[in-house]
Amino acid sequence: MHGQSGGKQLDKKMVALLLAAAASVAAVAVVAVVLLNPSKVAAPLPSSLDRSAEMLPPSSFDGSPTMPGQAVDLASMTPREAADRLFNRVMMATEQGNTEEALRFAPMALMAYDRVAELDADAHYHIGRISITAGNMENARKQIGILKQVAPDHLLGLLLEHTVAEQSGDRNAAASAKAAFAAAYDAEMKTGKREYQDHKVSIEKFHSAAANPAIDSAAPVLSVDAGRGATLFAKNCVRCHGQNAAGTDKGPPLVHKIYEPSHHADAAIYRAVQQGAQSHHWPFGNMPPIEGMSDEEIGQIIAYIRALQVAAGIQ
Ligand code: HEC
Repeated sequence: MHGQSGGKQLDKKMVALLLAAAASVAAVAVVAVVLLNPSKVAAPLPSSLDRSAEMLPPSSFDGSPTMPGQAVDLASMTPREAADRLFNRVMMATEQGNTEEALRFAPMALMAYDRVAELDADAHYHIGRISITAGNMENARKQIGILKQVAPDHLLGLLLEHTVAEQSGDRNAAASAKAAFAAAYDAEMKTGKREYQDHKVSIEKFHSAAANPAIDSAAPVLSVDAGRGATLFAKNCVRCHGQNAAGTDKGPPLVHKIYEPSHHADAAIYRAVQQGAQSHHWPFGNMPPIEGMSDEEIGQIIAYIRALQVAAGIQ
């Protein structure tokens, strides 16, 4: 009797000790983030990094190192595993069109990769993708440069290059990255690089688009401004201009040749929102002024409209 309850006591103590140990490991990790990134402390709190990583659902995104249902124990994760989890979180949010969440997690994910001692090609691709989501094209280009050093025709490098070019509205560069990808595909796949296995889904998707120039590659990946613009557009403009600005019975499509930048400069969009538009091109009637929008918000909506136009080949 006595011995048994004593054993239980001991068990409880052991559990308490183990929990305390786990907590201090997590605390050390937090301190490490702060110490290693003094310039970034002002941004998202490291404690939110750890908490959010714990909340991560099992990922379905390709490249996920996590099996469904696997418990998350951040303290036992390597910095790389923790970073990959955040990468998956950003990509999932992006795929689900949850721009706010993607933007919230992107800086945490980049911070997490800063903590990884040695970055392989796969990690550079992840950083490139996250940077594009965060609107940091310069950092994305840096990753492309590194991947090209690994192999001049690195497929993931060319994939990033295509996305960056599209985002920057450079259709010629986008087309040549796509062509280079198609040309390099067979030889590169034969090299059996591990990162190609990890990102098979993305590579195959882009390969079928690259092999068929008529199919333009998927939905646009949005910059920070365009991402915020998408949310504002949904709130203020969608009811007349429709999903993806494709038009409704109350207003015209804005993804349309007549609204390309050379015909319809940004100033005309500011004017339409602030002062309304007299019916002149279409039979929908007048557009009323849209109240309560700041210049900054209109600028973000314009970034979104321009991204949709570029993706549709209008510029
Ligand atoms: C109540 C419906 C309605 C809403 C809401 C609305 N629009 Fe419009 N918009 C229209 C109509 C109708 C036209 C077409 C006028 C015409 O015939 O040229 C138009 C035209 C435009 C034009 C072209 C103006 C021009 O100079 O030819 C732009 C740009 C535009 N809208 C942007 C927006 C943006 C951005 C928002 C959200 C902030 C928005 N609209 C919200 C109905 C709407």
